[in-house]
Amino acid sequence: MMFGMKRLMTEWQVGDGREARLADYVVERARRGNAADVIRTIDEYGYNESFLINVGDEKGLILDAAVARANAGLILELGTYCGYSALRMAVAAPTARIVSIEFKQANAQIARRILEHAGVSDRVTIVVGTLGDGGATVQALRNSHGFETGSVDMAFIDHAKDAYLPDLQLILDNGWLRHGSLVVADNVKVPGAPEYQAYMREKEGKFWHTVEHETHVEYQSVIKDLVLVSEYLGGPRTASN
Ligand SMILES: C[S@@+](CC[C@H](N)C(=O)[O-])C[C@H]1O[C@@H](n2cnc3c(N)ncnc32)[C@H](O)[C@@H]1O
Repeated sequence: MMFGMKRLMTEWQVGDGREARLADYVVERARRGNAADVIRTIDEYGYNESFLINVGDEKGLILDAAVARANAGLILELGTYCGYSALRMAVAAPTARIVSIEFKQANAQIARRILEHAGVSDRVTIVVGTLGDGGATVQALRNSHGFETGSVDMAFIDHAKDAYLPDLQLILDNGWLRHGSLVVADNVKVPGAPEYQAYMREKEGKFWHTVEHETHVEYQSVIKDLVLVSEYLGGPRTASN
């Protein structure tokens, strides 16, 4: 798994086919059209078959609570992987639209298969790209997915750890957040997003109010992790200000 972890951070799949096998496992075992059963089946696979880098069930409860609190109509996710967190958010906000950005085409295909089986494809759209790709993805969000000033109620940041802060900056530069929007960030302790955590601590009470949730890395109870839930208080649009 340690070799797998190294590869994961560059290739974004473990390398033994476990992500593609997950989609087969879900289609074979989870009740079609039953999103809760699909979530349960993915967790079962993560615990009993092969470890996956989904947000998982323990941190997933923090995510669910944030989604409910945001009263979300539009959610932006950075990092789809196999679609687990997008599905959780679709269940926690039954009328919300979720747009999830995924860098790796193969992961997007796996996630689409799982989301279709769960019956939420009409509300969850996966866009292959990155926010920092020079404009193509930002343009697609603006032109085809209804991203405009103050339109995003919640963002879930769960992709390349060194992109957390630059991509938050892009979200702010585009003016997509409104006063009271929530931004949730996974893996702030493991693998770690120290610049993002330092930024949120520095801006506490000025532009953001953040709660740091102590929790555990997915699908085990030994290694600790942190999930940050940050409420946007308005103010300068750029993260560097
Ligand atoms: C930790 S996984 C996401 C897990 C998912 N949010 C869940 O909980 O089910 C990270 C994903 O981010 C993707 N990724 C990496 N860099 C990215 C970037 N700059 N923009 C969008 N996605 C990226 C990877 O391909 C990988 O699928």
